[in-house]
Amino acid sequence: MRHVSLMLLWKPAFNIVLSSVDRGHNSTEGFNRSCRVPVWNTKHHIEAHLRQRIAAGDGKPCTYTIIGPVFSLDNLAPNFFGRLTATWWDSFLQGKPLRVIDTMDVGNFAAQALLDPTSPRFANAEVNLAGDVLTFDQANKTFYQRSC
Ligand SMILES: *[C@@H]1O[C@H](CO)[C@@H](O)[C@H](O)[C@H]1NC(C)=O
Ligand SMILES: *[C@@H]1O[C@H](CO)[C@@H](O)[C@H](O)[C@H]1NC(C)=O
Ligand SMILES: *[C@@H]1O[C@H](CO)[C@@H](O)[C@H](O)[C@H]1NC(C)=O
Repeated sequence: MRHVSLMLLWKPAFNIVLSSVDRGHNSTEGFNRSCRVPVWNTKHHIEAHLRQRIAAGDGKPCTYTIIGPVFSLDNLAPNFFGRLTATWWDSFLQGKPLRVIDTMDVGNFAAQALLDPTSPRFANAEVNLAGDVLTFDQANKTFYQRSC
């Protein structure tokens, strides 16, 4: 019985929540995918380090949640970079839909992972996050409806 109660009392000390970037995942490499884009490959190495250190334990009970957000809607800020991004979306994707997410949604998910660290949804879990799938024309239409 003592064993059982000890098990029930044992809880991870804390959950590390890392917001990284969606690079997809596949059957051979899972989420541990390298990437040719240097800034995203850096994130791959940070993720790999986090997984390894937590698997090694280092004497501390601890878990992780890695979040992989898709294209951030904050890229469409009302400035030069925002206009450049909108132009890129329109001309490069040519009507194909883009998976997008609002920073608030990433924050909400991260907060849940911090508040409920032992849930199988979050403990040593990796999840890519998207809030919507939009073509440029759909986004442009919504933008004009809401702001003009
Ligand atoms: C999985 O993704 C990696 C990295 O992009 C790639 O090298 C590999 O060929 C992919 N494997 C499969 C089975 O798609
Ligand atoms: C994950 O990727 C890192 C860095 O590329 C590599 O060192 C590590 O062996 C990989 N881990 C697994 C489990 O494939
Ligand atoms: C966005 O929508 C507005 C309103 O319908 C339209 O006038 C404008 O040409 C559209 N912009 C682009 C780049 O398609």
